[in-house]
Amino acid sequence: MTGFVGRSRELDALAELLESARLVTITGTAGVGKTRVALRAAADNGGRFADGVCVTELGGLRDLDLVPHTVAATLGLPEQDARSEAGAVIDYLSDRQLLLVLDTCEHVIGGCAPLVAALLREAPGVTVLATSRQPLDMPGEHVFPLLPLPVPEPGTAVGDGDAVELFAQRAAAAVPGFTVTDENRCDVIQLCRRLDGIPLAIELAAVQLRATPLRALSGRLEHRFLMLTGGVSVALPHQQTLRAAVQWSYDLCSPAERVLWARLSVFAGSFTIPAAEDVCAGGILDHSDVLAALIGLVDNSVVLRPEEPEGDEEPRYRLLDTISEFGAEQLADSGEQAPTRHRHIAYFLGLAEDFARHDKDGDQLARFRALRGEHPNLRAALRYALGPPGTAEDDGRLAARLASALRPYWEISGLLREGRLWLDRILPHLAAPAAERAWLLLTRGVLAIFQGELHEATADLEASIALAEEHGGELACALGYTYLCLAFVFSGRHSEAAVAGAAAEERLDAAGHLSGLVSLDIHLGYLYLLTGSADKAIDRCAQGLRRLDDGERWARSYLQVITALALYLQGNIEAGSTAARDSLRLKNEVGDITGIAYCLEMLAILAAAQQRYKRTASLLGAADTLWERMGERFGGTAAMEGFHQQAERAARDALGSKRYEKLFRDGAGRELSMTVDLATSDTDKPPPVSQRSLTKREREIAALVCEGLTNGQIARRLVISRRTVDTHVASIYAKLGVSSRVQLATWLGQPSGSAPAE
Ligand SMILES: Nc1ncnc2c1ncn2[C@@H]1O[C@H](COP(=O)(O)OP(=O)(O)O)[C@@H](O)[C@H]1O
Ligand SMILES: [Mg+2]
Repeated sequence: MTGFVGRSRELDALAELLESARLVTITGTAGVGKTRVALRAAADNGGRFADGVCVTELGGLRDLDLVPHTVAATLGLPEQDARSEAGAVIDYLSDRQLLLVLDTCEHVIGGCAPLVAALLREAPGVTVLATSRQPLDMPGEHVFPLLPLPVPEPGTAVGDGDAVELFAQRAAAAVPGFTVTDENRCDVIQLCRRLDGIPLAIELAAVQLRATPLRALSGRLEHRFLMLTGGVSVALPHQQTLRAAVQWSYDLCSPAERVLWARLSVFAGSFTIPAAEDVCAGGILDHSDVLAALIGLVDNSVVLRPEEPEGDEEPRYRLLDTISEFGAEQLADSGEQAPTRHRHIAYFLGLAEDFARHDKDGDQLARFRALRGEHPNLRAALRYALGPPGTAEDDGRLAARLASALRPYWEISGLLREGRLWLDRILPHLAAPAAERAWLLLTRGVLAIFQGELHEATADLEASIALAEEHGGELACALGYTYLCLAFVFSGRHSEAAVAGAAAEERLDAAGHLSGLVSLDIHLGYLYLLTGSADKAIDRCAQGLRRLDDGERWARSYLQVITALALYLQGNIEAGSTAARDSLRLKNEVGDITGIAYCLEMLAILAAAQQRYKRTASLLGAADTLWERMGERFGGTAAMEGFHQQAERAARDALGSKRYEKLFRDGAGRELSMTVDLATSDTDKPPPVSQRSLTKREREIAALVCEGLTNGQIARRLVISRRTVDTHVASIYAKLGVSSRVQLATWLGQPSGSAPAE
């Protein structure tokens, strides 16, 4: 977001290291610029890795066990089977060429080291670039200590890329028109020297120029350091220098800003304004004053200005980790930690319950995205709610409420392994039979179903129903039967499924629970389909669709894909394709990878029925790429496998193996958005480039890419930021469905600008 200064020598050295080393750890004191340098090095060198770069931010994470989950999420791996999370990551990366950036490891070294060790062993094409205050301390690690920016000698000219340049940039942002001149150079150098050239310290000092002239600023800083060193002019360790600079910023804040700074430290990762208002108001800080204090902190570079949000999403603010740590210390000292954490839990519990309650209401997608963006905070709230042993939270009730309220979230986000991990952690706290325990078991049972662990699922659901019946949890009981029905359907225990379904229906009707009823429509629709009553399946799904309002996507997409399969079995191929395409569109909007894979398979099967074998082959290829991320096709359930085999055989026979394989590979290699476009628009050929609306700027940049310019060179040529170029190039790749410069050149080189032959 801000200009990048210097570091060319470090970047050259890193580029060389990354050619050969498998693990490079950039170490250094807080605020020295590890993250910035790592991201820059990744951008510069990522092109050498066929599968690109994956940046995993571990700063907000406090949980060693969740390191693999966090990496998996940035790789886009669904958590939908029963493998261990680390196992899934390693499987996926084992034959890939990728640069994995693990940013901010120092809090979770114990979680990073085993994962990295396994990657070094089992994923020969993966290189890890870590940043950490301490080395990971493992064999094969190349430690790259990052020093502060150089500070020029007082008498000398200002060089390129040093601390003075950084100060000048930040000062000009704070006070438009500020420049380093012959008159003020000495003061600037002295100030940078005092701050040891630590970029974060320099940034914090530079914004103070708004209120204080340079000469006075420099004098006050000098005075502060002399007080710290007992009046002698000696150097402090970098850590203490930074701390002094942070403390100085803190002292210059208004009382309201200070309180807010401390309280904001309970957020993990980023936060929205409404969250800050709800969680941080109280005592001297009124709800209506939070915003003004937040703006004050942004002005002082304490809180990072948010990036431009997409659409009507809330802007998200963030604290650098060092700044947040300082705030956390203040919060602990003020004795306000517990009440602030409680407000944090209450706020996110509210969001979760709201999502669960309204999960069949309008703009489900927007609310889902908002919740998904809060993932680090949901984790933090769960951790706070579980509390350390001996505290009031130790009974697990609050954590149980939160983890259970998140049931639709775990399900829709596909974070099944992580959801189960939390449930497994919370359950032992709730040993006594109680309604909360029934909800927890229900939730764990539901997640187990979708992971294909049907024994565990059935046991949890039956236990949950028994508890709920005894402790008056009528709704938990009704939902227990609803999902027990599904567990039986997947287990092939069809008559038991029908019995559980009837028990569920009676209770859901009595409770008038709409989303439960829709779920049951899905489960029974699938049961009818599998037991050969396609017409009953279609009716049941139609009933479910009638219950839904327009904004709902999740349940609708299931009802439609079951309808598609039922129509196919009835020989109604056209209508089946329409339903499957509708379903795919919704699955794609929600980002449900498993659902997308099912729909692609379904469309491939339907295409085979229409004898469109080329389409069958490429759709099966596209689905295969997705299954690869998930482990096993259809999660190992046999119901669809027969149809799949049949479609594949038909296409192979008609096309010949060689041609089939080629089309399959083409489908597999295509960008997902392109696949979805082709599949939902019912065409087989990508539209010609000319119709794929590159903007004027994108066409200009694409041409430069083809001339062989790097993104950095393009940025300089067009006088725009490197970041903007990166974004444009990503957008061009996505629109054209290509993934390399060579492919792009091929595209643009087509004489008529049309697609290469299929
Ligand atoms: N080379 C640089 N050019 C511009 N700003 C920098 C540079 N290095 C660090 N910064 C700024 O200094 C602050 C701390 O940098 P960061 O990379 O987060 O440090 P670390 O990861 O070592 O704690 C950030 O606000 C960052 O933007
Ligand atoms: Mg960092």
